[in-house]
Amino acid sequence: MAAPKILVIPGSLRTGSLNAKLAAAIAHELVAAGVEVTRISLADFPLPIYDGDLQAKSGVPKHAVNLKRMMGSHQGVLIVTPEYNSSVPALVKNTIDWISRVQDGQETRGQVFRDRAFAIAAASGGRLGGTRALSALRLILTACHATVVPNQLALSFAEEAYDDKDRLKHQGDIDALGAMVRQLIEFSQRLM
Ligand SMILES: Cc1cc2nc3c(=O)[nH]c(=O)nc-3n(C[C@H](O)[C@H](O)[C@H](O)COP(=O)(O)O)c2cc1C
Repeated sequence: MAAPKILVIPGSLRTGSLNAKLAAAIAHELVAAGVEVTRISLADFPLPIYDGDLQAKSGVPKHAVNLKRMMGSHQGVLIVTPEYNSSVPALVKNTIDWISRVQDGQETRGQVFRDRAFAIAAASGGRLGGTRALSALRLILTACHATVVPNQLALSFAEEAYDDKDRLKHQGDIDALGAMVRQLIEFSQRLM
């Protein structure tokens, strides 16, 4: 079966982001599995906070439309989110909110979420590894009718999780990453 294209989205803009680092590590595994990967930064898709008046006046911002179209050109999407106050950061939620308002051509609004597979991961310096942000993100994506693969990766104590070559060093993390990557590829291929 042909390899799917997968879009990798880190949910942090911060220099030295733990989630951007984890996104890079997962992208590396996807490429090793033969997948065509596009890894972006949300810094290239700046969006105002969602405001219905703004949408009514000016439509959905072009960065949201462009990001939605980029998602649409991939069969799978991986979102790697920080955990802020036990949930997803505003950046991640706001991006999803805008994309869910895009209606391109004959599509229904938010259709891009329905037609592809999603995987979710999180990295945190704490013991829970962003587990609560993952629960919140799964709920949000499911509300958008996305297929979210069951396996996920919550990377705890993320500053100490890598070896000197920036590879994950704990077997539990390696196994969780591998299981999630395999499922994302499998679910994405079903949608090709
Ligand atoms: C506003 C705010 C709230 C946070 N809340 C949590 C939290 O609930 N759970 C957690 O594990 N870490 C929390 N953190 C710590 C982040 O996980 C940590 O800053 C992490 O490095 C952010 O991701 P990044 O490195 O990818 O930017 C919080 C950080 C900020 C700035």
